[in-house]
Amino acid sequence: MPSNSIDSLLHESRQFPPSAEFAADSIAKPELYAEAAADRVGFWADQARELLHWHKPFTQTLDWSEAPFAKWFADGKINVAYNCLDRHVAAGNGDRVAFHWEGENGDTATYTYSELTTAVKKAANVLIDLGVEQGDRVAIYLPVIPEALIAMLAVVRIGAVHSVVFGGFSSESLRSRIDDAAAKLVITADGGWRKGKVFPLKGAVDGALANGTSTVENVLVVKRGENDIEWTDGRDTWWHDRMDAASAEHEAEGFDAESPLFILYTSGTTGKPKGILHTSGGYLTHVAFTHKNVFDLHPETDVYWCSADVGWITGHSYVVYGPLANGATQVLYEGTPDTPHAGRWWEIIQKYRVTIFYTAPTAIRSFMKIGRQVPNEFDLSSLRVLGSVGEPINPEAWIWYRDVIGGGKTPIVDTWWQTETGGIMISALPGITSLKPGSAQVPIPGVKIDILGEDGTRVDPPNGGLLVVSEPWPGMLRGIWGDPERFVETYWSKFSSGNTWKYFAGDGAHVDTDGDIVLLGRVDDVMNVSGHRLSTQEIESALVSNHIVAEAAVVGAADEATGQAVVAFVIIKSNQKDANTADEAVALLKKHVSEQIGAIARPRQIFIVAELPKTRSGKIMRRLLQDVAEGREIGDTTTLADTSVMQIISDKLR
Ligand code: PRX
Repeated sequence: MPSNSIDSLLHESRQFPPSAEFAADSIAKPELYAEAAADRVGFWADQARELLHWHKPFTQTLDWSEAPFAKWFADGKINVAYNCLDRHVAAGNGDRVAFHWEGENGDTATYTYSELTTAVKKAANVLIDLGVEQGDRVAIYLPVIPEALIAMLAVVRIGAVHSVVFGGFSSESLRSRIDDAAAKLVITADGGWRKGKVFPLKGAVDGALANGTSTVENVLVVKRGENDIEWTDGRDTWWHDRMDAASAEHEAEGFDAESPLFILYTSGTTGKPKGILHTSGGYLTHVAFTHKNVFDLHPETDVYWCSADVGWITGHSYVVYGPLANGATQVLYEGTPDTPHAGRWWEIIQKYRVTIFYTAPTAIRSFMKIGRQVPNEFDLSSLRVLGSVGEPINPEAWIWYRDVIGGGKTPIVDTWWQTETGGIMISALPGITSLKPGSAQVPIPGVKIDILGEDGTRVDPPNGGLLVVSEPWPGMLRGIWGDPERFVETYWSKFSSGNTWKYFAGDGAHVDTDGDIVLLGRVDDVMNVSGHRLSTQEIESALVSNHIVAEAAVVGAADEATGQAVVAFVIIKSNQKDANTADEAVALLKKHVSEQIGAIARPRQIFIVAELPKTRSGKIMRRLLQDVAEGREIGDTTTLADTSVMQIISDKLR
């Protein structure tokens, strides 16, 4: 098809079978599905043995006796960092590049597996010197710089638990995460590079620890931005000083397969983010297996690049643990795609001859908007597999991605998963699956997905319903940090009965007559803005924490660029109405949300209203507000306590 007709492809129905050449050399073999179907648990045991090094081999695979609390490989012992580092060196691959790092400002660094192993051993000794012990929590608040990976691996190497907080989160968000996990140490940087400027990080850490009641004993500071920072003697210490003085000898010890590996906070339907807990052996098995098979990784020849920040689950699973466990060579990039010019990403792909590229639909759509002339200036012919993650990819973006970035030849894997699932759950396997734009398609081997109606029965294709995972999987979250009840209630209460446990993901999905799955987005009060998860209630809480706000309602409104955008409806307190003009109030509240949560949560629009639509029982009807925010005809208002409210709101906004 001529590429100039791409724009007219609103309803894509073509399929893209794998080429014979690709299939011939493909890592994933069709037998994987049959093997997993014949013995799902045994299949994962085989993967764990084949893909990983065990300090002590396991004899039990899955213990589901305390469902929904799973134990995988429970009597085995493993060291996750050893699997990502030392064993590659021991196998003679120490000179292989682990990563090429590009700083946004043009700085670069390359680490081989030997060099990375040495750095992590030193960092492990630094942590030990600072009193970090097995099981302690360490918060990491860093840009995408080599030290981020070194810090994460050093923490897990000594059996401690990291909680990485995305560098774009505010001091307040950092504080609540540090406090919830009772972190002993924070690892941060003076600043990082973003959009051509240094953004400060250390100041946010100082703010987060300011109340003096924190459990944090030390702050380890990487020098990156060279910006001025405040220093607290006795608490703050420079990374480079400690690293220079540290021994490069450190032997990795095996820890129980179920020992906690990391906590990663994510938004749910309630105001407070949840600390999703992942453990060691099962998680590493899942991410290593999926990274290898979904991306068709040939570690000797491929150069892999995942554009995610290490502060998100994609960065954990497919920048740090999956690729390094598989001995991949990858690219890391610190900054934004358009700095210092619109072709920065393509320039990086050209420079390092990237073969596998994994990014989010939001990024693809923003490149589409700029136009193909930018990527066309670069040689992208090294690319052979493209991936997508974080939100549904519309067929137009899929086709553009394949044609313009992939030269019309690369398979695209649309990967559905979540912070909670640890690794990819639904995706095509390149070389096997005939690809369908806009569909994540099929569960990976060893994962059991069902699409259920509200009543819990399986929907007949073609039909829509709710996505559930019907059997435990190795990368599954093991709980919510400090809140086992919330874990059971949030994920396992909707469809489980008796001894049958089904994980409810919170997503709607459609299944077509071929059995392929099309994701339809969240069915709860979670928004997806540029592939980032935000809770409507969390932003509402941030808004009402401002003294001028009486009430607030937040919805995710469809947005061409970001998938969804935050739109807020706010009632100003009557005694504050004269204090600011409406424009001033809007500006003040946008800033307030950025400070409370982070710039990613900043509302696209805030509407000052006199009333909010509520049912007779007082529940805000966000559905109606969403109609307004998306410029649609307002839906059924008959259940409202006061049916005129929506008319007043929409008249005002018009
Ligand atoms: O709604 C789904 C969407 O992102 C949610 C998970 O967000 P998070 O935990 O932040 O993890 C994002 C990266 C794995 C899901 O509930 N989502 C993720 N991938 C896809 C997706 N929606 C559609 N298609 C995808 N490929």
